[in-house]
Amino acid sequence: MSEKVNGVDKKPVEELTKEEAGSELAKLYSRIGEADIEYHQEDAPQISDEKYDRLKSRAKAIEDKFPELKSPDSQTDKVGAPPAQGFEKSTHLQPMLSLDNAFDDDDVREFDGRIRRFLGLTGSEDIHYTAEPKIDGLSISLTYREGQLVKATTRGDGTTGEVVTENVLTIEDLPLSIPDAPELLELRGEIYMLHSDFKELNERQKKAEKKLYANPRNAAAGSLRQIDSNITKTRRLHFFAHGLGAVSGSFEKTNYLAMQRLIDAGFKISDQIARCSSVDQLLAHYRLIEQNRAELGFDIDGVVYKIDDFDLQERLGMSSTAPRWAIAHKFPAETAWTRLEGIDIQVGRTGALSPVARLKPVTVGGVVVSNATLHNEDYIAGRGADGEPIRKSDLRVGDWVKVYRAGDVIPKIADVDLQKRSSDSVPYEFPDRCPICDSEAVRPEGDAVRRCTGDLTCSAQAIERIKHFVSRTALNIEGLGNQTIEQFAKEGLLNDAADIFLLEEKLGTGEDRLAERDRWGELSANNLFTEIRAKRNVPLGRLIFALGIRHVGAGVSDRLARHFGTWDKFTRVVNEACVMSGEAWDDLVSLEGVGKVIAESLVAAFDKFESIGFLERLGGHLEIEDFVETAQASSALSGKIVVFTGTLQNMTRAEAKSRAEQLGARISGSVSKNTDLVVAGESAGSKAKKAAELGVQVIDEKSWQRLLAGKDLNRVAEESSAVDQPEESKDLPLLAD
Ligand code: IVH
Repeated sequence: MSEKVNGVDKKPVEELTKEEAGSELAKLYSRIGEADIEYHQEDAPQISDEKYDRLKSRAKAIEDKFPELKSPDSQTDKVGAPPAQGFEKSTHLQPMLSLDNAFDDDDVREFDGRIRRFLGLTGSEDIHYTAEPKIDGLSISLTYREGQLVKATTRGDGTTGEVVTENVLTIEDLPLSIPDAPELLELRGEIYMLHSDFKELNERQKKAEKKLYANPRNAAAGSLRQIDSNITKTRRLHFFAHGLGAVSGSFEKTNYLAMQRLIDAGFKISDQIARCSSVDQLLAHYRLIEQNRAELGFDIDGVVYKIDDFDLQERLGMSSTAPRWAIAHKFPAETAWTRLEGIDIQVGRTGALSPVARLKPVTVGGVVVSNATLHNEDYIAGRGADGEPIRKSDLRVGDWVKVYRAGDVIPKIADVDLQKRSSDSVPYEFPDRCPICDSEAVRPEGDAVRRCTGDLTCSAQAIERIKHFVSRTALNIEGLGNQTIEQFAKEGLLNDAADIFLLEEKLGTGEDRLAERDRWGELSANNLFTEIRAKRNVPLGRLIFALGIRHVGAGVSDRLARHFGTWDKFTRVVNEACVMSGEAWDDLVSLEGVGKVIAESLVAAFDKFESIGFLERLGGHLEIEDFVETAQASSALSGKIVVFTGTLQNMTRAEAKSRAEQLGARISGSVSKNTDLVVAGESAGSKAKKAAELGVQVIDEKSWQRLLAGKDLNRVAEESSAVDQPEESKDLPLLAD
């Protein structure tokens, strides 16, 4: 009898002669070795885990029968041993943020307007910006200590990335030292590949029958993530510096000067960087770069505008994921015409029914597009949120439509060709029942979205919630892909996210072992279980976000984590707030950035979770890290609840709140006995009075400025002339603020 190994009939091991065994073992070692390199070093496995496991078990069986043939470094000794991820992880000293986008001139004017409003400037004062190309590569953070390059880290999830120093050292146009640099300097930039090198690389790959890269960006990413830096060296990568991260001591006062100094140190900074002092100048520079785009020799996808002055950048700070002081003005999207072949309805994790256009596949900007978002039923009907027409007609199945995509954004439909519409086409009828669970789908007055009312009984909502839970910005559980989640849900192994942590118990051993399944093997099954175990440690803010509650995005989740500090307190207060009145409810509603809509959404979600004991089960599997203040842990305001009232003369309310948050404060809109500090500007009214009555510390604007300058809160409060006695507060005008 023969057995199949790798699709080929093989003699049973017992029947092999020593000579045959020796020759087969050598081939197996070589094939397993290749597969290891493809999997761990090239990010490109060429054989399935199952095949890999079969090769290994055959080698093991031969070794068992002929121990004298076994190589001392046989791969069979390393079953499942190779690390799941080949690179060490490192936390950035300053997070690596993303950028907000501007798609047209008005967006850029609005960006300038927002900055002026935030800083309390009028239109006439000069603000200096820099404008430079947005390179379509991958972000990297380079750490220089005493002027020497010591570490290179990829962006990762923005907080933690992979250490790829060895590989970055192979980049030829990257200076390894910066003269007269401060003790610590994090340099941020982009690694990219030239069109010509990309073409050559793909030709080499093709000849060697290896996988081709889709575009220069993917090629640069694949080349950087090589375990063997000798491979990276052959890939000719380039580095473009565009900013600074953490810096100890002083470097330069503006971005422009910092870049000039880096040019002097030998860095390649775009010669297309310009210093501008008006929106018109920014837009003129954008047009210039757009004109030169084709001659650059590498991909760019827009122009980045940044506030030039570092002090101003610091004052502007950031919103939850992007700095307020910069924006990416994207180039117009590429477009193509194709046929709308159908409209599918997808059900999201909050029950929203989202229509998706199924398109005849078409290439748009180098990428094949076969579906596009249709937003909601009004969009299909050709109406915007305000009920006004957004195009000349509705969209019908069978229509010819113009598709566009901007950067990584999901493709959209820009236009419809009515000349080509068939005479028997009919308007699309939006379903009023969930296509998955058949519950009624309702659309509340004034809401653009129709939602399935099935909630916990709708399997589509459950699956989408689990997908969100494991996604990169939530728990980031690698290896648990969409298809796997769908399959496990179908088998009843995953009903909600808490079940993820029972997978190893259910599938680690026994008859139904994951390793035995199609497309799985020992290695991938073990990697998944290890990954799930590793992700049991989760910071509070990430966990709140991972719950996937409507309106509770990353920014709100961070605020909630910062405010409540611990999982116990957060869940206790929200549970108490479920009656929608009382102290817990007031606490939630008055929290800056929360308010009634979000509070209602939170309590509604908690009500549903409660009915299936979800949060207790989930919490039982996790090690939840309390919120830790990263910025200025020792600042006078860290952990304090602060209320602003009245008008500040020297900074806008928005800036004051942002500065307080940077110093670790939590901002509330109303005064209660939990308030630690009230900053009372001019014409402070009822809030200052209430604070005084409750004995809460109140300081004036001058003291607030001193606090920002690093003074101690107690000293500042003693010197403050603001009300701190109930009697005095009577003199204040009682204006509502
Ligand atoms: S400034 C907040 N300038 O674009 C970070 N970024 O979408 C400030 N990028 O992760 C970034 N070219 O890696 C800046 N000239 C440029 C850039 C650039 C490419 C990347 C950057 C960032 C991403 C944000």
